[in-house]
Amino acid sequence: MGDTAEWSWYSLVLCSIGSITVVYYMLRWSWQCWHGFKVYVLSEIWQTDLRTYGQWAGKVFFKEWLAKRGLDIVLISRSDDKLRSVAKEIESRYKRQTHLIQTDFTEGHSIYSAITQQLEGLEIGILVNNVGMNYIGVLANFLDVPDPDQRITQVINCNTLSVTQMCRLVLPGMLERGKGLIINISSEAASQPQPMLSVYSATKIFVTYFSRCLHAEYRSKGITVQCVVPFIVSTNMTHNIPVNPLVKSAASFARDALNTVGYTTYTSGCLTHALQHYALSIFFPGWLRLSSFCVQRMD
Ligand SMILES: NC(=O)c1ccc[n+]([C@@H]2O[C@H](COP(=O)([O-])OP(=O)(O)OC[C@H]3O[C@@H](n4cnc5c(N)ncnc54)[C@H](OP(=O)(O)O)[C@@H]3O)[C@@H](O)[C@H]2O)c1
Repeated sequence: MGDTAEWSWYSLVLCSIGSITVVYYMLRWSWQCWHGFKVYVLSEIWQTDLRTYGQWAGKVFFKEWLAKRGLDIVLISRSDDKLRSVAKEIESRYKRQTHLIQTDFTEGHSIYSAITQQLEGLEIGILVNNVGMNYIGVLANFLDVPDPDQRITQVINCNTLSVTQMCRLVLPGMLERGKGLIINISSEAASQPQPMLSVYSATKIFVTYFSRCLHAEYRSKGITVQCVVPFIVSTNMTHNIPVNPLVKSAASFARDALNTVGYTTYTSGCLTHALQHYALSIFFPGWLRLSSFCVQRMD
């Protein structure tokens, strides 16, 4: 009799723990599905009106879609010729104004006073911190990066200093107007530590943490800071790898990512990249990426 009472007490506890666990995971899974549906499907239908953030937006990668959605564009990049041809296209195709700033973000702190002067008088409502670079070639041990003395500083300046300083330049104006959107482009290479891409991976987790902290600090003042974490997009950086169901074209990625504005502040940018992120976190977790077995095979 005593044994039976004790057994039913144990089974009641185990059943309760089991049920709570099942309910917890069901709720969590349902919430993730609903969140994914909202961010990647509903956002296609009900898009946030980006013009509510202001008249001007900067810069390339998202240029066409920002112009298409009614914003004037500040274009910032290294090549004057490229800037002029993109500006001409935006002005003729979308009838939007453009403002060009030629600079090289690898150069470090010295460039920002000139950028400040050139932005004077423009109400920047949206800032897209898109610039980023990797080593020449793709995968390399830290000391095997070609021309490490130059390249490491350039990657850090381009990927982290540019994001931080550009936010510093536009935030005061946004705060004065009580509205603004900053989109910072991180990378899937930051979701887990990525050996053979050590500097790139570390600079991108900087972008992720910086964006999330900035959003927490300024959201109550009307500023949204969104962090976009793409997988592979066909661009110069990826040697224009052919587009396929896993690899997005730059235009299609930019379109999908902009649709997520107003729905989430941390996103893979599009459904296929979100699914790849999910699959990779299950089948290629951080401990496996960091194992000697994997690192030796990537070498
Ligand atoms: N492509 C991918 O698969 C991928 C994946 C994850 C994350 N990302 C991130 O997405 C962002 C965009 O990458 P992307 O693939 O579009 O790169 P990209 O093709 O190499 O360059 C993007 C733009 O930035 C400008 N740019 C590059 N270096 C610059 C510099 N030093 N100073 C000023 N402007 C510069 C380029 O114009 P100019 O050449 O005219 O200067 C170009 O318009 C980066 O932050 C990257 O880390 C890309």
